[in-house]
Amino acid sequence: MNLKSLEEYWEFGFPNVEGWVDTRLAVCLRLIDNVQRAAGIVGGIGEIGVYHGKMLLALAHLASAGDKVTAIDVFEDQARNIDGAGVGSLGRLQENIRLYGPSASLDYSFIKADSIALTSHEREQLATRGPFRFFSVDGCHTAEHTCTDLLTAQDCLTPGGIVILDDFYQPHWPGVTEAVSLLYSRYVPRIKPFLYCFHKLFFVGYGWQAHFVDQCWQHLAPRSDAKLIEMYGSRVVSCYP
Ligand SMILES: C[S@@+](CC[C@H](N)C(=O)[O-])C[C@H]1O[C@@H](n2cnc3c(N)ncnc32)[C@H](O)[C@@H]1O
Repeated sequence: MNLKSLEEYWEFGFPNVEGWVDTRLAVCLRLIDNVQRAAGIVGGIGEIGVYHGKMLLALAHLASAGDKVTAIDVFEDQARNIDGAGVGSLGRLQENIRLYGPSASLDYSFIKADSIALTSHEREQLATRGPFRFFSVDGCHTAEHTCTDLLTAQDCLTPGGIVILDDFYQPHWPGVTEAVSLLYSRYVPRIKPFLYCFHKLFFVGYGWQAHFVDQCWQHLAPRSDAKLIEMYGSRVVSCYP
């Protein structure tokens, strides 16, 4: 289809890709991409829990030619998908990348793995794909899986890279919200939240948090659905509903 931007994907590709991403998210993704680019932050794109690629493709449309895009999913090994939230399919994902992926040539990799039980080989594979500028977490929704996935994501981020957690405060998946509480009570994580919108919680490393929250608030404050709140000891811009 030769889609050249996030906005073209949103108009011509996004509606055709099955998955769970709120249509209002595009504005926030573009905003964060602009903040990263202004600060010279570069790196790969990654996601745990890819399904047919609706979110991965959105992030791929923010990548530059030659960037690495890494998809981690159990794919056809559905015996390891214990909460049944979307049956991953490598074939559908690759077909959607072919149909709706960016025209810029990107370096894709597909890692078939259970994210809570990554082997040392799979961890090494992931390390060679980073460091990451965007890493989306949307695999199994239990507290244990999600907390493990957040730790995996933080470990391969570039400074100023963003972790995007799906289904936070989503009443059908309470394990995700519980996972963030586990993260801050059981561990000393190096990432802090700075933006919550449309059931996605965005995190960045400690050194960058104030910059990202200030930039988001500067752009989003005029919206009637935006509020500056405090969460886990951090200022966070929250857009709701
Ligand atoms: C909710 S869907 C992801 C939706 C997707 N991010 C989108 O943009 O539409 C969840 C995905 O996680 C995968 N999954 C479930 N358990 C997993 C696990 N333990 N490790 C890796 N992937 C898993 C499923 O196969 C499924 O593709």
